[in-house]
Amino acid sequence: MNLQRIVVIGAGTMGSGIAQWFAQQMCYVELVDNSEAQLKKALTDIHASWDKLVEKEKLTSCQVIQMKKLLETKSLRKVSKDSDLVIEAIIENLEIKRSLFQELDQYFSSKTILASNTSSFPIGLIAEAVSVERKKRFIGLHFFNPATIMKLVEIIKATETEASLCDALYEWFDSKEKKPALSKDSPGFIVNRVARNFYGEPLRIAERDDEERMKEIDRVLKEVGGFKMGPFELMDLIGIDINYSVTCSVWEAYKQEPRFAPHKLQKQMVDEKRFGRKTKRGFYKYD
Ligand code: NAI
Repeated sequence: MNLQRIVVIGAGTMGSGIAQWFAQQMCYVELVDNSEAQLKKALTDIHASWDKLVEKEKLTSCQVIQMKKLLETKSLRKVSKDSDLVIEAIIENLEIKRSLFQELDQYFSSKTILASNTSSFPIGLIAEAVSVERKKRFIGLHFFNPATIMKLVEIIKATETEASLCDALYEWFDSKEKKPALSKDSPGFIVNRVARNFYGEPLRIAERDDEERMKEIDRVLKEVGGFKMGPFELMDLIGIDINYSVTCSVWEAYKQEPRFAPHKLQKQMVDEKRFGRKTKRGFYKYD
């Protein structure tokens, strides 16, 4: 497999990280978002991150000059129709994702691989939006936050996805020092299914919006459990809105099993627009 031309749709937390990582692999990347402001912010942030990596001597200025040339922001109508791979990283909403993929299926060449970075929806459900032929080249590629640093990429095969495509992508990511994992197509895949309890139980232990309790739970899980981040710190990083959508969709998919139930505090925070680090206020405050 030779992936050279990548389109990333959605320039938020995940899309911008995924785009940055692919440009770092010296792929040509076209980054798309329906918000012009978000697109500008993503490009500025990625450039600033690269400049920092040069300062820290992790990248050379020559490499960064080349990466900056390789990453472009565009509107969907202007991206190359014969791209090798399109990764969707927009809002976690099944209907919106499906309607985008219907459009992408028409727009891109028949050889283009279409992938979703969804955290929770079965890939087969999203793939219902595309043609029979495209279903063979439709796959889940689930990156983790921050995408430039986290090694794991879950590769999810829907019923119609060609097995050879999964194998080829596995080898490609493996050769780029990611740690790919093949996952069954089920709600939450591997990590997000297991992780529901990493968020849900601490929320039930904390019960209410009390920063001291959250700090204590985070501290215990880091010191005793050996986790790099506590559950509340991690939810703030992921985005409370995204984490809440994923919780709801996994809970619904498992027929409202109590162990996957969302906590009232999650909804309350979404209503208050306390989305975590990205809005500078989540369980904790950020300056
Ligand atoms: P985000 O809210 O930070 O970014 C979403 C972006 O998509 C926004 O910039 C928005 O303007 C754009 N957008 C929305 N609808 C669009 C459309 N129709 N066309 C083009 N752009 C559109 O969300 P985030 O956190 O980046 O999540 C994106 C996807 O990645 C979701 O499916 C989420 O479940 C998944 N994911 C999120 C992780 C996380 O830690 N935040 C981890 C792994 C996957």
